[in-house]
Amino acid sequence: MKQVYMDTFGCQMNVADSDRMELLLFHSGYARTANVEEADLILVNTCSIREKAEQKIFSLFGNLKPLKRNNPGLVMGLTGCLAQQEGEVLLKKMPYLDFILGPDAVERLPAAVERALSCREPVVWTGFDRAKNYAIPEVEGEGPVNPGPSAFVNIVKGCDKFCSFCVVPFTRGREKSREAEEIYAEVRRLVARGAREIVLLGQNVNAYGKRGLDKPVAFHELLYGVAGIPGVKRLRFTTSHPRDVTRDLVRAFRDIDALMDHLHLPVQSGNDRILDLMRRGHTAREYLDLVAELKSEVPDIALSTDIIVGFPGETAAEFEDTLELMERVGFDSSYLFAYSPRPNTPAAEFEDSVPEETKRARLQKVIDLQNRITLANGGKFLGREVDVLIEGRAARHGAHFKGRVPQYWLVNFSGGEDVLRPGDIVKVKTEEILGHVFKGRYAGQSTPNRQ
Ligand code: SAH
Ligand code: SF4
Ligand code: F3S
Repeated sequence: MKQVYMDTFGCQMNVADSDRMELLLFHSGYARTANVEEADLILVNTCSIREKAEQKIFSLFGNLKPLKRNNPGLVMGLTGCLAQQEGEVLLKKMPYLDFILGPDAVERLPAAVERALSCREPVVWTGFDRAKNYAIPEVEGEGPVNPGPSAFVNIVKGCDKFCSFCVVPFTRGREKSREAEEIYAEVRRLVARGAREIVLLGQNVNAYGKRGLDKPVAFHELLYGVAGIPGVKRLRFTTSHPRDVTRDLVRAFRDIDALMDHLHLPVQSGNDRILDLMRRGHTAREYLDLVAELKSEVPDIALSTDIIVGFPGETAAEFEDTLELMERVGFDSSYLFAYSPRPNTPAAEFEDSVPEETKRARLQKVIDLQNRITLANGGKFLGREVDVLIEGRAARHGAHFKGRVPQYWLVNFSGGEDVLRPGDIVKVKTEEILGHVFKGRYAGQSTPNRQ
């Protein structure tokens, strides 16, 4: 088989796209290699959410370019959100590229590779697919790898929210949902091949089912449907938008045992003027009310979030509102970002009045606060037995396995190496907290397990 080397940046949508590309390439005679030197094909699946993400990609290509000079038969392609955003322009910067494919051209990857091999004319395929529905055709036959204990399933693509800072609506196009039956069929196949946890994916995952489906199914109904498939021990979804959290979704958290008690719910800011400028469509109070409702229905629920500091015009007092909201909610973890102006987005036209060093100082403040809250929240689990789905061998020295608790904390633990394997759900006694991670010791099989 020929060898493909793949590098993936960005969110889980990109990770899922890379898995799909690996599968499609496998059926065109390519096996994945971790050694870039021996590759016949190099693919970089890119992200353009912040400027830093872009810079990383350009510096990576700086390193890859000489490989192409030494091996003219090597095929090199750039896929993902930067491809969609920049298109042809990238060819001017990197004329050695053979193809540039946007996220909607993933299915055409084998055709792009074939073309590159037959004629050395680079192609740029960045048109959005015009189909009403979003479908991922099943590929017959064995894939290159079995799914891990936790498997992603795309359920909705694109985003129609147009937050004023965000490139996703431009890079991933309009929101489209997959038919529920197609999703159930994929989940059944994954479970048959060893998956125990299903993570439903979408940039705006809980906007699922709003329109365009031949057989309309609401997001919460889909959750009941997936949880009802035999073998699905755990169910999660990401990323949600506060505006699309319904009463029915809150009830689903309460009523579906397999639906884990964790919700990633980006808030971005704790200040109403900034939220309005961001076009998030809700106030800080509305977000806090939603959190209060979730916590009253599902007392064990853990929350995590995304926050942007230094949005154009954000004053010191407005930034304080974000700190206050973080304290009030008590997120277990957060992804924290300094605002980065992006092409095509309305916020890029706003006056970027927050100096870089103020942004950096604010970022450090939210990081410090989050670390304190994480430590305090983790304390509630310390010394206790928690249920862990083993995802694999621990990378950390001194621990044998790693996995997650329902509330999404990562756990590295020792013990049980002769009897356990990935996919088992076990009891672990927590002994130490390191960031958003526990260290612990195997404390026995959990029920239900391995049925
Ligand atoms: N769909 C998700 C998140 C998408 S991108 C949602 O709606 O919440 C992931 C995170 O990157 C965002 O939540 C936001 O916090 C951050 N982000 C997006 N654009 C950004 C920008 N221009 N500058 C800084 N952070 C940004
Ligand atoms: Fe971007 Fe907003 Fe859509 Fe999230 S909801 S992907 S932040 S536009
Ligand atoms: Fe990045 Fe595209 Fe995801 S911009 S965050 S890879 S949707």
